[in-house]
Amino acid sequence: MSKIIVSPSILSSDFSNLGRDIRFMEKSGADWIHIDVMDGHFVPNLTIGAPVVKSIRKVTEMPFDVHLMIENPQKYVKDFADAGADIITFHYEAVKRNEILDLAHYIKSFNIKAGLSIKPKTNPEEILQYLPYFDLILVMTVEPGFGGQKFIKECAEKIDLIKRFAPENLIVQVDGGINSETARICTELGANSLVAGSYIFNSQDYAQAINSLR
Ligand code: DX5
Ligand code: ZN
Repeated sequence: MSKIIVSPSILSSDFSNLGRDIRFMEKSGADWIHIDVMDGHFVPNLTIGAPVVKSIRKVTEMPFDVHLMIENPQKYVKDFADAGADIITFHYEAVKRNEILDLAHYIKSFNIKAGLSIKPKTNPEEILQYLPYFDLILVMTVEPGFGGQKFIKECAEKIDLIKRFAPENLIVQVDGGINSETARICTELGANSLVAGSYIFNSQDYAQAINSLR
């Protein structure tokens, strides 16, 4: 079985000690750092922008997994790529159908990975045709916008269909309400990348929490 990629979400970190918390994640065995970008329009919350990504780029070489929960993602891809993103994932619901492939190509033109994400109410059948053009598919297991919400099992069940149509190397990621129990549900369905915020950052032992997800 392929390795499970654990991507702690810094949304649950202590923002006054962001660099320190990222180094803790690295020492504790994290694979990637998940960065939640929200614009107050696509989701009802505001978080961080490219300047923050640029400054934390100095503290680690771990891949930066940038999750754009914003409208007009095409406008900001270059900023995040230049700031040091290694993966840029945008939302299927945030763009027009005829823009999806162009945006995937545009992200890849920066020599980084392109991801496509779906919200809980989106039918996975709608994205099957796009799978070959992406490196990663992010199945949201909560409504995007906030950390600390309860895992929606029916969302994870979408992984099954996606895996049946997925090219071999496609990374299937889940995000929202992931803990050691819900991680198991997702990996059994075929997910190989797990985002977790509150579960990791609220734990007493980060390394143990990260390990318990694999
Ligand atoms: C939610 C974000 C998540 C969030 C996950 O919109 O995309 O990455 O930080 O937080 P937890 O793991 O606490 O559900
Ligand atoms: Zn996220």
